[in-house]
Amino acid sequence: MRSTQVAIIGAGPAGLLLAQLLQRHGIDSLVLERETPEHVQGRIRAGLLEWSTVELLEEAGVGARARRDGLVHDGFDVAFADRHHRIDLKGLTGKSVLVYGQNELQRDLVQARSATGEAVLWQVRDVAVHDFDTHAPRVSYTHAGSRHELRCDFVAGCDGQHGVSRADVPGERLARYERAYPFGWLGLLADVPPLNEELVYAHHERGFALCSMRSRGRSRYYLQCPLEDQLQQWPDSRFFDELRTRLPERYAARLVSGPALEKSIVPLRSCVTEPMRFGQLFLVGDAAHIVPPTGAKGLNLAAADVRLLARGLIEFYRNRSPTLLGEYSARALSRVWKATRFSWWFTTLLHRFSTDPFAQRLQSAELEYLARSVAASRLLAENYVGLSFDEP
Ligand code: APR
Ligand code: PHB
Repeated sequence: MRSTQVAIIGAGPAGLLLAQLLQRHGIDSLVLERETPEHVQGRIRAGLLEWSTVELLEEAGVGARARRDGLVHDGFDVAFADRHHRIDLKGLTGKSVLVYGQNELQRDLVQARSATGEAVLWQVRDVAVHDFDTHAPRVSYTHAGSRHELRCDFVAGCDGQHGVSRADVPGERLARYERAYPFGWLGLLADVPPLNEELVYAHHERGFALCSMRSRGRSRYYLQCPLEDQLQQWPDSRFFDELRTRLPERYAARLVSGPALEKSIVPLRSCVTEPMRFGQLFLVGDAAHIVPPTGAKGLNLAAADVRLLARGLIEFYRNRSPTLLGEYSARALSRVWKATRFSWWFTTLLHRFSTDPFAQRLQSAELEYLARSVAASRLLAENYVGLSFDEP
């Protein structure tokens, strides 16, 4: 039977970043991934890193390309009622964010892992976690046609929202808190110059729109859409017409359209699992929580979990102290709930929810307040750049 110190299920950003940090401290891990490296690197997701995430990438030795090619943003625009209000992130908080595509980050992580010569087992099947309540947990899996068992000290469940590690925990030992939003995001990626140097979040009576980017030549746009919409209802021309309609005149006039490289519809939901530790099994990232993409917190929350778990494991192997590991779930959840609250609030502020005129008046009042009050803008900015860690 093969053995390792930490068995990591999932080679998404959470699993690979954890493996990388552990490796730097001489802790051995094996990553088990269901998909191929090509599939994992091709997934298109959000692209906004908090500065603490950038610092963690650097600590893991995988931040160089993000620092070189990422775009530093000191602010963003909130547009509504044909007006726009800039949130001066740098001025209000002293911090910036980095625009860097998650698929680029995923590529950096896969490359770093192969450079260490340490394994990721790709295309594993039927992963199951056993005996996680004991000090000798095991992970069984099928690889290259045969069944294997991996003995380990700890299991990190980094297998995303549909993973198996959470499913292996008896239902009565965990609680799930969920909110589904009554709409989705239709995303489009195109090789056209972004319409603005900074991101533009737009509230419009026809629904929310976001103008983001991946580089100076590649744009990422989103439209709020009904959940039942199908991609074939959204040819590129309709997408760009609708986006133009939802933007203030000064932005609409300079929007450049171009053929979609990718188009997708994702439903929006919030979900938190409590606790995030079961014996020697730790849930990390999307395996434990999902946020709507509006605040771009998904990847950053995953990185924050990894940071905490890596610190706990390093402390454990260095001096056999279980203290930080014991605090993992409570500390992670404290940050998760704050980000869940922010993502819910930012989503509520900007999307069209109902035809109730009272609710709409409240929403307009809140946007006006944001545009006039430095305190309200600071509240948004502080959450957007990422709350500081309450360090152990
Ligand atoms: N066995 C092995 N691997 C699995 C299994 C399984 N049964 N189920 C899922 N996986 C793999 C997925 O194929 C995926 O590569 O686990 C990985 C989970 O990665 P992500 O979904 O990216 O989750 P995470 O690493 O927590 O990333 C968090 O990044 O990808 C975004 O939307 C995500 O923003 C969020 C953040
Ligand atoms: C993205 O570029 O995909 C993106 C950016 C900011 C967000 C959400 C998504 O708030």
